[in-house]
Amino acid sequence: MAGEFVPKHYFRRMERDELCRPDRPLEIDLGCGDGTFLREMAGAVPERDFLGVERLLGRVKKVCRRITRSGLENARVLRLESRYSIEWLLPEASVSRLHLLCPDPWPKARHHRRRLVQVDFLKAIQRVLQPGGEFLFMTDHEEYFEWGCEQVDAFAQFERLEWPENSFFYPKTDFQMQWEAEGKSMHRLRCRKPITED
Ligand SMILES: C[S@@+](CC[C@H](N)C(=O)[O-])C[C@H]1O[C@@H](n2cnc3c(N)ncnc32)[C@H](O)[C@@H]1O
Repeated sequence: MAGEFVPKHYFRRMERDELCRPDRPLEIDLGCGDGTFLREMAGAVPERDFLGVERLLGRVKKVCRRITRSGLENARVLRLESRYSIEWLLPEASVSRLHLLCPDPWPKARHHRRRLVQVDFLKAIQRVLQPGGEFLFMTDHEEYFEWGCEQVDAFAQFERLEWPENSFFYPKTDFQMQWEAEGKSMHRLRCRKPITED
């Protein structure tokens, strides 16, 4: 499918130049859904490259159609599981911003282990971020947000940054628009991999 990124191998780590143009910052949107955020970001910032990661085929097809229709040359979508993509495929220090927006909150206690934001996952994120690269997590689910903050505190290797609403260009996601239409508000967590690691 046009717009789809298919790795040459699923069992070895990729090189950065397989994923994006060599001189461009790379941004990843994990669980990109219908691609609303991905497409708007890619359209607004043509000098950066974007990769959406989404496991559902129907959504991947929709994102591909939208990317193609918009004529975007800096956005692609990978049909794969987010954790696997980060832990096993993406190269070290390759990503400038990693977005995790409105992920499934898994509210029941017995399902919390399915949540993406866990210390081991943060460790994998830290590995793929460039020094100074950012992890941006947004959710309407207050308890998952607090959980995310606790995991980041426990990991203790990211710097926390302020993220007031509208402080920089950040298009709304499809789910964000749905939740806000229902009167819910969003919680934002923005972290940076330190430029100098201890
Ligand atoms: C609640 S939706 C949010 C979609 C989009 N980020 C937004 O805000 O509109 C969560 C999306 O993540 C995808 N997803 C959930 N878990 C995933 C995983 N482990 N790997 C890849 N995609 C995942 C779902 O299929 C769904 O499209």
